[in-house]
Amino acid sequence: MDKHNAFAPAGLVEALQAAERVTVLTGAGISAESGLPTFRDPMTGLWEKYRPEDLATPQAFRRNPRLVWEWYTWRRKLVEQAAPNAGHRALVTIEQHISEFTLITQNVDSLHQQAGSQRVIELHGNIRRTKCFDENVVVENREESAEVPPRCPRCGGLLRPDVVWFGEQLPEQAFHTAVEAAVHADIFFAIGTSGTVEPAASLARVAQRFGATVVILNLDVEPLEAPPLYHINGRAGIVLPALVRAAWPE
Ligand code: OAD
Repeated sequence: MDKHNAFAPAGLVEALQAAERVTVLTGAGISAESGLPTFRDPMTGLWEKYRPEDLATPQAFRRNPRLVWEWYTWRRKLVEQAAPNAGHRALVTIEQHISEFTLITQNVDSLHQQAGSQRVIELHGNIRRTKCFDENVVVENREESAEVPPRCPRCGGLLRPDVVWFGEQLPEQAFHTAVEAAVHADIFFAIGTSGTVEPAASLARVAQRFGATVVILNLDVEPLEAPPLYHINGRAGIVLPALVRAAWPE
């Protein structure tokens, strides 16, 4: 199979045109061109500057809820200032052409929804939502408060972002739907993800085992997974629109 071919490797355009079931898993890299930092890119990744165990675990929140809340408030502001890019928009076009299309994201930024994707499966939650740390229940329309973190209007406990932290379970239904979509995919794309965080990373392996053509699109030199797969080394905001134009010319 072709590897490292810049835009559309031989055969991929035809495979996309013929596909009935396409499943896409996205990660932080698809939002990089919207100005949001990834986690593991050298120099710019969040985990180059911060330690996940200080900020993204329940233990970290128990130890220092204020620090964790403020870090997520900073990230939420970045997200609120960001807009979808050409990569997010290309996935909307693919959704319109494929009869069974599933978009699974590890991102918490809502940029797929803002771009117009109809159905987005969020594996790691959403940074715009807040939930009660004790009750694990989403709190809608909470009042602004000077307390950091704010308190749950029902039980008075601390509020936290509704994102999945290290050591926590993924939302069960979302993960179940994601596995089903990986099992049944004709083509499985992993876009802008380093494939290092389980169980999301396992979806590409599941898809491959069940016979999908697996396409990895990121800036990494080598993908973690073994062939047979396509590895496209390029920016999602350039590669995906090129793929869409090649598959469905205006
Ligand atoms: P990573 O930061 O681990 O990986 C980002 C990937 O995007 C890398 O493979 C880059 O090469 C690629 N990339 C960067 N810019 C790109 C671009 N313009 N176009 C295409 N690819 C690009 O991010 P994730 O794999 O999403 O979880 O990280 C997975 C999880 O780890 C996150 O959801 C988060 C984090 O800890 C939690 O917080 C639970």
